Amino acid sequence: MAKIARVPTGIPNLDGLIDGGFPRGSVILLTGDPGVGKTIFGLQYLYVGALEYGEPGLYLTAEEFPEELKLTAQQFNWDVMSLEESGKFYFLDLASGRIRLPSKALTSKAPFDPDTVLVELLDAVRKMGIQRVVVDSLPGVLLTIDDARVARRFLHRMISAMKILRTTTLLISESYDGATNAYPHLLSGEFLSSGLIRMYFEREGEKLVRKMLIQKMRYTPLNLRPYTVEITSHGLVVIV
Ligand SMILES: Nc1ncnc2c1ncn2[C@@H]1O[C@H](COP(=O)(O)OP(=O)(O)OP(=O)(O)O)[C@@H](O)[C@H]1O
Ligand SMILES: [Mg+2]
Repeated sequence: MAKIARVPTGIPNLDGLIDGGFPRGSVILLTGDPGVGKTIFGLQYLYVGALEYGEPGLYLTAEEFPEELKLTAQQFNWDVMSLEESGKFYFLDLASGRIRLPSKALTSKAPFDPDTVLVELLDAVRKMGIQRVVVDSLPGVLLTIDDARVARRFLHRMISAMKILRTTTLLISESYDGATNAYPHLLSGEFLSSGLIRMYFEREGEKLVRKMLIQKMRYTPLNLRPYTVEITSHGLVVIV
């Protein structure tokens, strides 16, 4: 059987549960409740990837501004700024562009345009040798596109591009059920099917604990058991 190249996740104890990491070139969907640690997961995946594995990463943010994400990174002493300076970490900012202020003077960003974003994304991947991509969040990106067909096409093209360029991509989404999501068909797993990780809160006695379930990972045997996850001063850790 051919050995699949693996991309270490940077989350302690996670790689041991998935044969060493995400299959290289795959697209993984990470869903979870608010505050469960999805953004921290994404930052850690790119930070450790850049620092320890020398793999440049791109963070496409549609929710928080890059400055906010840097503050989060600082909580864990992740020096994202110097990685940025050395070309190993790149923020593609859709969050700022979403504020469609009337005066150009108040915002340097043009309104969100899917084609421009794709071009910028592909440019960065080629020029900087990006190997890891995080999209935070997928609904956040899609909801900036008014027309559902345009959104669908954008997603198809982005995912195809990521596969051709062999980046290993983490798509972040809030936990969803078909009823509340604006684009349920886009998130149904139709083509986001390389891997699915669910994070959620579960009541244990008096308090809530964070859980992680790796529900789907192509080419990888899974035990389908939920694991407790903790956020420590070093970031996310899976308790095994
Ligand atoms: N240094 C820290 N130690 C422990 N927990 C922390 C630390 N810093 C942040 N947290 C926890 O991480 C949570 C936020 O994590 P994160 O932003 O990754 O969540 P998220 O899943 O992306 O949420 P959302 O869906 O709202 O974007 C906070 O609610 C906080 O409890
Ligand atoms: Mg988040």
